[in-house]
Amino acid sequence: MLPSAVEAIGHTPLVELSRLTRGLPGRIVAKLEYLNPGLSKKDRIARQMIEEAEACGALSQGRTVVELTSGNTGTGLAIVCAVKGYPFVAVMSKGNSVERSRMMRALGAEVVLVDQLPGSIPGQVSGGDLERVEQETRRIVLERGAFRADQFALAGNFRAHCEHTGPEILAQTGGHIDAFCDFAGTAGSFAGCAAAFKAHNPAIRCFVTEPAGAAVLSGEPVTRPNHKIQGGGYVMSDLRFLNRQQVDGYVQVTEEEAIMTARELARKEGLFAGFSSGANVAAALRLLRDELRGNTIAVLLCDSGLKYLSTDLWE
Ligand SMILES: Cc1ncc(COP(=O)(O)O)c(C=O)c1O
Repeated sequence: MLPSAVEAIGHTPLVELSRLTRGLPGRIVAKLEYLNPGLSKKDRIARQMIEEAEACGALSQGRTVVELTSGNTGTGLAIVCAVKGYPFVAVMSKGNSVERSRMMRALGAEVVLVDQLPGSIPGQVSGGDLERVEQETRRIVLERGAFRADQFALAGNFRAHCEHTGPEILAQTGGHIDAFCDFAGTAGSFAGCAAAFKAHNPAIRCFVTEPAGAAVLSGEPVTRPNHKIQGGGYVMSDLRFLNRQQVDGYVQVTEEEAIMTARELARKEGLFAGFSSGANVAAALRLLRDELRGNTIAVLLCDSGLKYLSTDLWE
């Protein structure tokens, strides 16, 4: 018996994708992060950021918590704030799927939706759209004297994955993984897991997954800043948590590959996850066919397919 939903965060199952990899040399193991209470891996960082702020005195009872979110961190924060009694304001782009704002509101959050830039496409949040959300977030934080749970800056984001997600994968595999690939938003998941993996065994190879056409981290020209893979690929080249020494390579996936792979995950493996999970598995399949033949590759299934019922992810 757990005292609250907060303690139900983490310790997600790890599943081998043996149907998707049939006929291929090697294995893919997927961590079902969509089984967290808020249906995404971001519950982990919400808990970590709030508990670290409480511990250092930056957050005390009654203070409002504000976050710029693509929805998942906000959902995690809504859960943690509901349990711990903090008012919570989520600021997000109108370009994110409607399930996200409705879920946060249901969990007691105040949701502020920010218009996309003229010409931006609903469902495709660009770096420019995000800059608008950033300005509105700053304004609300000032106005309310709030604590900003800033996932791009607070080390709790990195630590949640370095102290929990990564070590859980190592424990679940007996430490026997050869590689990890991860679609980066803040890069907190990539960097935290990579740090844990490399501390265990420096030979574990870690790959950043990026959307084709918006692969700035690997230094490619940007031809398609707007894409459907929500939660990352924001065309930001200076990510605080990304330690380039831990990057062994970059993999680009198209949104079509991410979508087709998410659909295959659902149909063949019974795993109902979102766009970025499809991107992670598509990247791992590519690596298995190519430079990582015969390896065991770990990936995260970042969030639930339920968060995209209103999008064209599902037919
Ligand atoms: C669905 C989804 N996938 C991937 C990411 C990227 O994770 P990270 O910020 O740890 O790089 C996020 C981040 O919000 C997300 O919501």
